[in-house]
Formats: sequence, structure tokens, C-alpha cells
Amino acid sequence: MKLYSLLLGAITLAFSAAVLAQQPIVIKFSHVVANDTPKGKASEFFAKKAAELTKGKVKVEVYANSTLYKDKEEMEALQLGAVQMLAPSLAKFGPLGVKEFEVFDLPYIFDGYDGLRKVTLGPVGQQLLGKLEAKGIKGLTYWDNGFKSFSANTPIMMPADLRGKKLRIQSSKVLEEQIRTLGGLPQVMAFSEVYQALQTGVVDGTENPISNLYTQKMHEVQKHLSLTEHGYLGYAVIVNKKFWDGLPSDIRKQLEDAMEQATRYANQIAKVENETALENVRKSGKTQIHVQTAAERQAFKKALIPVHQKMESRIGKEAIEGVYKATGFDPKKL
Ligand code: LMR
Repeated sequence: MKLYSLLLGAITLAFSAAVLAQQPIVIKFSHVVANDTPKGKASEFFAKKAAELTKGKVKVEVYANSTLYKDKEEMEALQLGAVQMLAPSLAKFGPLGVKEFEVFDLPYIFDGYDGLRKVTLGPVGQQLLGKLEAKGIKGLTYWDNGFKSFSANTPIMMPADLRGKKLRIQSSKVLEEQIRTLGGLPQVMAFSEVYQALQTGVVDGTENPISNLYTQKMHEVQKHLSLTEHGYLGYAVIVNKKFWDGLPSDIRKQLEDAMEQATRYANQIAKVENETALENVRKSGKTQIHVQTAAERQAFKKALIPVHQKMESRIGKEAIEGVYKATGFDPKKL
């Protein structure tokens, strides 16, 4: 706590000194994916807009590909004020103690981007962001990535094909349950370590939106990819609350405008980025891509939708039903 206060004091001082000396206010924006992804491009877009709208008073430094911090560390760094802005995947908020966010990890809870937007742009999404304040975090907005598909070194047609497989997941209890329900062995691991773990056989497979699979070259070490699109992976853009609240109000407003434009851009490019990545995986010829039949998709849904019920006591009925209501999802209608 003492260290925390000291650090915050130091940040405030550094911040005031920067304003006095008319140095730009620096926002360090750390993330774990490649530049050439929806999140990578949107963060660069935000940096450019922020410089433009604040007329150079704010400089956003983007650190991609875990160059500053890995998954778990980046959240701690934000809370301590060592970085000011992040866009972690929504799965990263459960370990922080805001378990309601794990609703986004439930398999098949969104049927596509339209249902998802009803949540992220609606009251449910805003309420969830509000829960971060108690952690010293201000949630600004949501950025899309896409729907995750399973990959492995063996073909994945039916749920039973993943039985006994070691599958890398993000640190989420819902994702753990999802893999266990399939009879697989969930392995929590930082994103930056996945390629090597797949290459060396530490894990057999994983789940990713294709933009992440392709830009980390995971397709080069996975012989099979099945387009299961069984779950969602997207982001909340967050800032250190103390830093944000301490900004001069005109600058904060300009940054909010820059963020609004970056969000529109992110959500516009995400789907196409994932489609292009899939095309690139196909062209590489390194991975066999399986398009599920309706019966196969139905078998996966039947196997995985019970995860909603199983995780209700952890995520909370209210969060799950809030999403069902916003999207029109009915678990009984399979
Ligand atoms: C993951 O760990 O798989 C993702 O959180 C990576 C990302 O940020 O898209």
C-alpha cells in the first residue's frame, strides 16, 4: 500500500512537472499482440488521433507484442501507474477479481458481432466497465477482435477429438471449465509463450481468433485448424484511474474523442482482419483448415452450452441473464 501511494505520488509529480515544462504528457500503452492485428492497428490509430486532437500535448507510446509486459504483469503495471493504458482481453478481468467479465468467455454466448455489440455498446457493457473503478481502473470502451477457433496437431471434427489434449487457454475459470467439459486438459499460459509451447509440444493445441493465430505464426506449428468459432475474444480499453482523473479536463475530452474514433475504427476492421488472416493461413499451406458441418457445430454447441449453467455461481446469474436478454440468446433453444 505504501509503495502504491509512493508510486502514485511520483506519477502525479512527474505529470505536473511535464505540464509545467510543456513537455507532452506521455501515455504508455502496452499490449501483447502484434502490430498487424485489430488491437495493434487500433492502438496505433488512437496514438495518431491523440497527437492530432491534443495538438501534440499528449504522446501515446504503443508497446506491442509483450515488449513491456506479459499478460498478468501488465495489469499490475497499470494499477501501479507504470503504464497508463492497456487493452487486455476480457478474459483478463476475472483473475483481477471482477468475475462478471467471464460472461464474455462463455462458449456460444454470442452468435456474431451484432449480438456482441448489443452488450458492449449497451447498459450491460457499461455496468461491467463501472465495476473496474474499485480496482483503480477506468474502463473507457470495448474493442472487437473476433471469434476463437480450435487448432491442434490432429484433426478436430467432433468434441471427442479434443479429449485428452493439452490445450492452452487464457487465465479464466470459464475457459478452464470449457476445456474440461470437452475432456481436454486446460493449460494456462501467457500469450507470448504459446508459440514455443506449441512448437515444443508442451501443449497440443489452443484456441484463438485467426488474427492472433496468424500473426504469432502459430499456424506454422499447428497442423489442423477447425473453424469452430465457439467463443469470443475482445478487449476493454482501460486506464489508470488516478492518472485519467488528474488530466486537465480539455485534454481528457480530446482523448475521449480520439478513443471514440479509434473504437469505431477497431470495430470496423476486426472482422476483415480476421478474414484476411484466415486467407493468409490458407495460402501458407501449413495448416489444414476444416469448415464445420452443421451437425459438427451442433455437437460442439450441445457439449459446451452446459458450461453456462456450471459457471453460473461464479459469474453470477445477473451478468449471464443480462447478456441473454441483450442478445436474445436462449440456452434452451439449441
Ligand atoms: C490471449 O492471451 O490469448 C489474448 O489475450 C491475446 C490478446 O490480447 O488478444
